[in-house]
This record gives sequence, structure tokens and C-alpha cells, in this order.
Amino acid sequence: MNVRITGTGSALPGKILTNAELETLVDTSDEWITTRTGIKERRIAAEGEYTSTFAAEAGRRALEMAGVQPEELDLIILGTVTPDFPFPSTACIVQDLLGATNATAFDLSAACSGFIFGLSIAEKYLRSGSARKILVIGSEVLSRIVDWKDRNTCVLFGDGAGAAVLEASDGDHSLLSTHTFSNGTYWNLLYQPGSGSRNPATDSRTIDERRIYLVMEGNDVFKHAVRSMEEAAVKALDANGLAPADISLLIPHQANRRIIDATAKRLGIGPDRLFTNLHRYGNTSSASIPIALDEANRQGIIKPGSKLLMVAFGGGFTYGSALVEW
Ligand code: ACO
Repeated sequence: MNVRITGTGSALPGKILTNAELETLVDTSDEWITTRTGIKERRIAAEGEYTSTFAAEAGRRALEMAGVQPEELDLIILGTVTPDFPFPSTACIVQDLLGATNATAFDLSAACSGFIFGLSIAEKYLRSGSARKILVIGSEVLSRIVDWKDRNTCVLFGDGAGAAVLEASDGDHSLLSTHTFSNGTYWNLLYQPGSGSRNPATDSRTIDERRIYLVMEGNDVFKHAVRSMEEAAVKALDANGLAPADISLLIPHQANRRIIDATAKRLGIGPDRLFTNLHRYGNTSSASIPIALDEANRQGIIKPGSKLLMVAFGGGFTYGSALVEW
């Protein structure tokens, strides 16, 4: 049984936060942010907009493209590190918003690799015959866990969601492979110290000592990201007997332009076969790859027969790749 991506969708907040506006919040500059990260602006959720808001909208658009009704879905997998609530899962809220009454729904915690991990789980359900139609979503409202007083992190992140519908298929074109990896040795290089069972939100020190916000060792994360994304990409190529020259388009996790360029260079994939949009959205964690996938798809950059390589890296550490013949 083959597995096809039959629809993609994305949803972004309307509010744009530019580098110039950030200059008024923290001691930074458009020049620093642009040269160190490639980011020019990011989207920020408004009051009344949540992770489920964007997830459901991105899901709706993906379903529409696939021509699939919400009730036909067997499964909804939602990657996020910024769920609406610790429980229930945001996927269950999305199920309700979409009216996907026949779906099982659950969240997946793999940080920026959430969408690739979701594709990998969906692939297994579909190949085994346990499901026929699955919605995989990556959605984040990172602006609510970012410390807006910390210039090291607040300039990097943004909000939004992307989604894909995967279906069992008898055709040739297919999700060729997925590979997932974890390296828990480095869990504390990128994490949110507060709001879980170690530093509960019910303890006033969690707020007073600013443990509620995301923290990151940027330099270390940078090095691991480049090495790990290359490893995951090579695994995908080797598993399919392909060389970098065979890849039509590389969609890497959109964290930092320098990480992306270094990864593409190591793989020998030139700028003409590289999709980036982080200058407009910043790092949207699990949403970054599916937003990019949807934009590349709707812009007609991905064509029937295109060989598309998606590669992710995130907190955990987690990393992975997915190779698709479109
Ligand atoms: N504006 C101005 N100066 C800044 C800012 C800012 N926004 N942020 C940091 N600086 C300063 C630092 O304080 C430091 O100053 P100092 O030398 O006086 O101490 C100086 O700039 C250099 O800091 P570095 O951390 O060495 O800068 P670097 O070139 O490594 O870039 C960055 C930092 C952009 C965070 C980089 O390390 C990076 O991108 N790392 C990857 C992290 C990432 O993308 N994480 C996202 C999540 S994981 C993932 O999605 C892959």
C-alpha cells in the first residue's frame, strides 16, 4: 500500500511583527537579526487566537485541497509544543472544530520535528491498513512561551500552522520513506523549564523566576542542527538509492538561514532547489515545514514526479526526514 499527500494547507496570524518593531522591545537591530538569522518579520497570534485556531484552519484548507470530508478522517495527529491546554490534547479540540467525528486524535511532542514525526506515524498507520485518511498538523503559538525581554530568543520565533492530508493509495507516486531520531542527552539545551511537573505553573516561583519561558543554548543547538539534519537527509537518500542530484526540492526546518544554508551546502543542494520562507515567518517550530510545503505546493514549485526531501531538527533533540515522490 502506498501513501500519498493529497492536500496541504496553512494558516498564519494576520499580525506582522517586524525587526524594526522588535528594536523597540529589546536591545537588538534589524541588521543583527537579518545577518545572524535571515529573519525579517514573523506572525504573532492576536487575543482569542490559539494553537487550535490555526491548526483547524490549516487542516480545513488541506482537506479542501484533498477533496476529503472531515468525517472521512480516521486520524488527526497534531505536533505542538504550545498546546491550548496541558490536557486535553489540542488535536481533540481540532477534531471538534473540524467536525471530524470519526477520527482518533492525539498530540505529539517532538518540538520542531513534530510534523516529520507525525508523517512517520501516519505512514505506518496507512501502510498497515489501520487507517485510510489522516490529517497531520504542525501548529504553534510560540509567542506565548517566548520571553519578550530576552533578545537571544524572542527575535527567532513566530506563530502559525501547516497541515497535510495523507491517504492510502495504489498509485506510483508516494511518500517513499520517513526516518526519525532522538538524542535525549541534550534535552536541556532547548526547553521550557516551567509549567510541567518539575516546575508547575501552580508554584509561584515558576512565574517569579521566569521559568515559564523557553530557554536555549543557541550556539550548541546550531551545531547539532546542521549535523543532524545532514544525517537525516543522507539516511533518506541512502534508503531510496538516491543522490542529492536526484532531489528536486529540499524543504528544511525554517530555524535560521545559516543553519539552512550550511545543511544544503553539506548535501550539495544549491539555492535553486531550496525552499525558504523564514524571512517572513521566523521559526514556527512544528509548523515550519508544513507551512513551507503548502506554499511550495500552491506556488506550483512542487510538480508531479518531483522528489521532495523534508528535513527537521528540534528540541529533545529530535530530528528526521521524509522523502516524497509527488
Ligand atoms: N540582537 C543583538 N545582539 C544579540 C541578539 C539580538 N537579538 N541576540 C544575541 N545577541 C548578542 C549576544 O548577546 C552576544 O553578545 P556578546 O558577545 O556581547 O555576549 C552576540 O550577540 C553573539 O551571540 P551568539 O549567541 O554567539 O550569536 P550567534 O551568531 O551564535 O547567533 C543565534 C545566535 C541566532 C541564536 C544562533 O546561535 C542560532 O541561530 N542558533 C540556532 C538556534 C535556533 O535556531 N533555535 C531554534 C530552535 S531549534 C531549531 O529550530 C533548530
